[in-house]
Amino acid sequence: MKFFLDTANIDQIKAANDMGILDGVTTNPSLVAREGKDFRTLVEQICRITSGPVSAEVVSTECRAMMTEARELRQIAPNVIIKLPTIAEGIKALKICVAEEIPVNMTLVFQPLQALIVAKVGAKFCSPFLGRLDDIGEDGMKLIHDMRQIYDNYMFETEILAASLRHPFHVLEAAKAGADIGTMPYSVFEQLWKHPLTDLGLEKFLSDWKKLK
Ligand code: E4P
Repeated sequence: MKFFLDTANIDQIKAANDMGILDGVTTNPSLVAREGKDFRTLVEQICRITSGPVSAEVVSTECRAMMTEARELRQIAPNVIIKLPTIAEGIKALKICVAEEIPVNMTLVFQPLQALIVAKVGAKFCSPFLGRLDDIGEDGMKLIHDMRQIYDNYMFETEILAASLRHPFHVLEAAKAGADIGTMPYSVFEQLWKHPLTDLGLEKFLSDWKKLK
């Protein structure tokens, strides 16, 4: 399973990259707005840190305008992936992107038929939002299982990019369900290797070592 960071924060991206376990980055308009910086500059900075896929989302809702944004964003770096919303105009834009060999991450996916449609059209990544489904009392993880089955049935190459992961258990369950990628905030990412028994064990080893001296 590949690990992406779901953030536009440069310090967090650098920290994850320094650990050697950062496979890519996803951003969205809310995350970018939180940083209060120019979008293009931010994407440039992120692409200088990682050579993995960096999703940059369009904010237009009409196909032609989406394509103008997509082509501009693609100029920033070869690893920029265009993020399009899974609405009719977004799917039309996806078709054009596929023809122009622009890699696309289809976002805001909440049910398996949306995932099937975007794979048929040729999305490189499809982002189901688990946490937001859980938030409204639905089983977000079931969507990953359904997508895995559909993609395997028809041998689609679209990668399942499990998104809206809110805690390490989401990451674990998404991995078991066969998601290709998990994208998560830094607060979840840094919990992946932490365990209180590791810290306690180390503390004991070091205090015993001091006694030897
Ligand atoms: C994914 O690409 C989205 O940016 C993200 O995972 C949304 O997560 P949220 O539901 O916690 O905002």
